[in-house]
Amino acid sequence: MRAAASAPGKVILFGEHFVVHGAPALVASIDLRAAAIVERAESGGVRLSDGSKDNPAVKAVEHVLRRLGASASLIIEIESRIPQSVGLGSSAALAASSSAAALHLLAGRLDLNLILESSHEGEKIIHYMPSGIDTSIATFGGIGVYARSSGYKKLDIALEEILVVNTGMRRRTGDMVLRVRGFAEREPEQFKQLLDEAGRIIEEGLDALRSRDLERLGMLMSRNQELLRVVGVSSPELEEAIAMCLDAGAYGAKLTGAGGGGCVIAAADPDKMDEIISRISGRFEVFRVRLGVEGVRVERP
Ligand code: MEV
Repeated sequence: MRAAASAPGKVILFGEHFVVHGAPALVASIDLRAAAIVERAESGGVRLSDGSKDNPAVKAVEHVLRRLGASASLIIEIESRIPQSVGLGSSAALAASSSAAALHLLAGRLDLNLILESSHEGEKIIHYMPSGIDTSIATFGGIGVYARSSGYKKLDIALEEILVVNTGMRRRTGDMVLRVRGFAEREPEQFKQLLDEAGRIIEEGLDALRSRDLERLGMLMSRNQELLRVVGVSSPELEEAIAMCLDAGAYGAKLTGAGGGGCVIAAADPDKMDEIISRISGRFEVFRVRLGVEGVRVERP
């Protein structure tokens, strides 16, 4: 009477925010996962184990029920290693793992498109106009390019590890998305140029990834960060974390996710990472993440 599933968090390598406005973005799953156990209950509808209902996981599971034409009371127990509200895709991973566990429990199968659709419904309650990038990577995993018009295309590219620095400042993705929309409305011409530049960075980023050129990847990250600064989603803590990464020998760094706080990613030689970590860890939480892991999957409850 119970089923479990897990899904990965993510880092956006290039293109957050611009992806909401139609540009492509490069995204990778990370080896931090969120897990959900879904269990049948006598009554009470769908809720988390603490009783709350106003949550992406609950909304996603309600969507699964609607699409299956089923009615059931379900309790979702969640457990996540992905820090929340810092740009690493925690809510999408929770929505995807909860939908997958519910689907497995009620229908005995995983339908990735239904999981994606349900997670997207779940994300809508915390997000303003979600592009779908977080839920796509939570569902399908790997590394790939995402665009609103064409969805997620997985790439056969390996980039093993990247550094993540968590400023610990939480923020609401929806607020940051609205901030960028405000910029786009005030400065349409400049925003169009930034969108074009974001598209060029993706092209060059793909090249750098294919040739495993970390130095170029880092340089492109720093270029992407300039665009994010202009649209107003950086913060003093993010800038401090970026400066520390560069001082410590990273090739480049940028915020990842919605910004305003949250995390920075940095490209560095793997054999330099420990030294960079030791120089930053007195000030910020910093860790290595492995990229391109498996998407949503069933787990033993
Ligand atoms: C959030 O991880 C990424 C944003 O681009 C929002 C979105 O794409 O939905 C800021």
